[in-house]
Parts: sequence; C-alpha cells; structure tokens
Amino acid sequence: MKKMKKLMAIVGAMALMLALCACGGKAASGVTTVEKGKLHVSTNAEFPPYEMVADDGSFEGIDMEVAAAIAKKLGLELVIDDMGFDAALLAAQNGQSDMVMAGVTVNEERQKVMDFSDSYATGVQVVIVKEGSEVNMDNLGDCTIGTQLGTTGYIYASDSVENGGYGEDHVVGYDSGALAVMALVNGQVDAVIIDDKPAQAYVKANAGLTTLEGEWAVEDYAIGMKKGNTALLEAVNKAMAELKADGTFQAIVDKYIKAD
Ligand code: ARG
Repeated sequence: MKKMKKLMAIVGAMALMLALCACGGKAASGVTTVEKGKLHVSTNAEFPPYEMVADDGSFEGIDMEVAAAIAKKLGLELVIDDMGFDAALLAAQNGQSDMVMAGVTVNEERQKVMDFSDSYATGVQVVIVKEGSEVNMDNLGDCTIGTQLGTTGYIYASDSVENGGYGEDHVVGYDSGALAVMALVNGQVDAVIIDDKPAQAYVKANAGLTTLEGEWAVEDYAIGMKKGNTALLEAVNKAMAELKADGTFQAIVDKYIKAD
C-alpha cells in the first residue's frame, strides 16, 4: 500500500512536469513565440526618436523601450532584430520575428498581410526642404522627392498622379531616412517626405533645413504581427493598455519627445 502511494506520487509529479514542459514556445502568459522564452522584435533602428542605435551600440527610442516593457509583462526576454525597414516588416509577416515595432503605419495593404495591435501613436508625413527653397506643398509634383524605401512616404509619393501621388519618376527611394536627408543636403533631391518626429530630429541635426507648413498625410502607428497569432495579439494589446493606464507609456514618450 505504501509503495503504491509512493508510485502514485511519482506518477503525479511526472504528469505535472510534463504539463509544465509540454508547452514548446509558450510563455507563462500563454503566448507562443518564435524562440522559447524570448520576444523577437524586428525593427529598422534609423528612425529617431522611435528607434535608433545609441553610441554604445544599444538600442534606444520609444518603440525600443515600449517593446522592453511589453516583453517584461509577457515574461519574455526582449531580442531586437535590427534590419532594413522592408525586411523588418517581412520578418514579422513571415513569422521570423514575433512582431515589428518600427513606427509602422497601419494601412490597408499591410493589413492584408499582417495583423496590427491597437494603435499607440499618430504619425504625420511632412515635407523637409532647404531653407529658402521654392518648393511648397503645391509644386511638389514638379520636384524630385527623397524618401525611405518601403515607407508610406515612398508608397504614396511614388503612386500615380490620379491616385494622389507624383509618379515614380519623381521619387527616389533610399535605404534610410538619414540617407534621404543627406541627399537633400547635397542637392540630389528637392524635398524629403518622412514622418514628423524623425523630420524634427533631422532638421535639428542639419543646418539649413526646414519643414513645410502643413501635413502631407496623417497616420496611425501600431505593432505588426504575423496573421493569426491571436494569443500574442491579445497579450500585446493587454500589455499596452496596462502600460498606458499606469503611465509607463507616457513616461517613455515624454523622455524622447519634449512637449511642444
Ligand atoms: N511610418 C512610416 C511607415 O510605416 C515609416 C516608418 C519607418 N520606420 C523606420 N523604423 N525606419 O511606412
């Protein structure tokens, strides 16, 4: 009888262990991730103040700190996968990363291929020009416009005139916003269309640049994920809601964006 009891205890313990181990890539929070215990976030860390590489090589910016806070809430270790912007979107879309946080604008095309979290910021596409330039919102169609490849600025500006764009011939795509701005400084393009917060950073960092009055397009930023990973989507939305409710989210934003 005693032996039996002991056996049952062992069987019970083994069943418990199995239950604990049989979860593959699942975290305590119940979400399945690409790598067990980790949250892989793909990004393109050339987009201040949302994501950039600090002097010591670490990642900083609003998205990076929010990503860390989300990972913590989910009980996962954050891994930042830095790559080109297009690649960062694709990585999440194809499930090579768990999500993309890169100041990603939600649009219909992207919604067809990935799921998005609730929006966490507003992005405004603005136009950077050289100080004293003749370029204005109405004659952009006669200009050469620099943009970052794969961004909504590139997509919309290179669209046909009927669709509200200026046509591909008027748009040059660069690997990063910084390179597009450098092309403007060097006179290779007449204007740069880019999100407002990076625009402010670039205008501040380069003498002789200014942004045109007015908004070229107003957009929502959200976190992109592979289609169908509902558990992760819900966990991320819940974590975000909590970070907003307890002030963590706003504190991160305030750290990088001075109130106007
Ligand atoms: N909001 C724009 C878009 O989604 C630009 C984002 C670029 N982000 C970056 N990390 N480079 O297309």
